[in-house]
Amino acid sequence: MIRFEKATKRYGQRSVVDAVSMEIPAGRLCVLLGESGSGKSTLMRMVNRLVIPDAGRVLLDGRDTASIPPEPLRHGIGYVIQSVGLFPHWTVARNIATVPTLLGWDAARIAARVDTLLDLMGLPPDQFRGRYPHELSGGQAQRIGLARALAADPPVLLMDEPFSALDPGIRRGLQRALRDLHAGSGKTILFVTHDVEEALLLADDLAVMQDGRLIAHGRPAEVLRRDAEPAIRRLFGEATLAFHRLGTLPAASVAIGADKLAIGADESPGGIADTPLLHADANCKQALMLMLDQGTDRVALPDGAVVRLPDVMAASGAASDAAFRTAPRASPGVAPEAASGTAP
Ligand SMILES: Nc1ncnc2c1ncn2[C@@H]1O[C@H](COP(=O)(O)OP(=O)(O)OP(=O)(O)O)[C@@H](O)[C@H]1O
Ligand SMILES: [Mg+2]
Repeated sequence: MIRFEKATKRYGQRSVVDAVSMEIPAGRLCVLLGESGSGKSTLMRMVNRLVIPDAGRVLLDGRDTASIPPEPLRHGIGYVIQSVGLFPHWTVARNIATVPTLLGWDAARIAARVDTLLDLMGLPPDQFRGRYPHELSGGQAQRIGLARALAADPPVLLMDEPFSALDPGIRRGLQRALRDLHAGSGKTILFVTHDVEEALLLADDLAVMQDGRLIAHGRPAEVLRRDAEPAIRRLFGEATLAFHRLGTLPAASVAIGADKLAIGADESPGGIADTPLLHADANCKQALMLMLDQGTDRVALPDGAVVRLPDVMAASGAASDAAFRTAPRASPGVAPEAASGTAP
């Protein structure tokens, strides 16, 4: 568990982190969002004591980090940064093995761990373990940085825009890998990103910073609620807020059971045999995207329940969203009658 208690950092007269209090429970993945310069990296670096708070404190599993010497503290915290910071005169394998070596692992265990992590990163060990950082592309170096942070399997990960230099395919692969790793390991993760899609894909919780202050913290659906304050609306995009909100809502929550559907008077016969299939934990945004892709107004869940377009529209709350109420023209996709639940 990571707990910030009125954590404050000042440079000159300016508080770049201003009395931030929040708790990231053990096993939770918290995504930190905010405009450039809002204090995200500074807040994160307080956890591993790369930044010392001027006031307030940071607790790790109930212990004030100020009371833990930096070395043992950092051995238990994986830290990934955008600029990677690999040691230039060390091979990839030696870079990845930094913490295991410090912890005194034997050579065979280290070598096996290096290869496992290179595989996880999609970098063939035979080709990569002997290379030097200058022989890597930016995206490859970023993945080595991530492998290094994971090497000793630390219970806490601090990830500061770790995927920013990666192309979309590799980025999606690593996002999935991180989600699986998190689900399977119970690690506590603080993750900074500028990418709203990435944030919503990964976050158990969202924390939003503005000018050094924490202006929102909670479950994504709560942070993206309809009456969210202007700074948050801007960050997620006024026009796309309702769409992002759909991403926080399980498709199953608006689905209609196959039994009810069969007896519904407005349902066409023929069952759901040809209805495109979502995966069981899909959200409403994915349901809508699948409908758009397949040119259909309904998709099915593996249990046979059906998600219908009008129900997704109603769930988005689009028609009552201030952004759309004040728009000069209603866009066809969010016409009030569709959003109020009438079938198109
Ligand atoms: N060592 C320093 N000395 C003076 N000012 C600093 C120092 N480090 C950071 N700052 C200032 O503190 C503010 C917050 O910086 P920080 O790096 O935490 O922002 P950020 O939210 O991570 O931004 P970005 O999204 O661009 O990475 C910025 O205005 C920055 O210029
Ligand atoms: Mg930063």
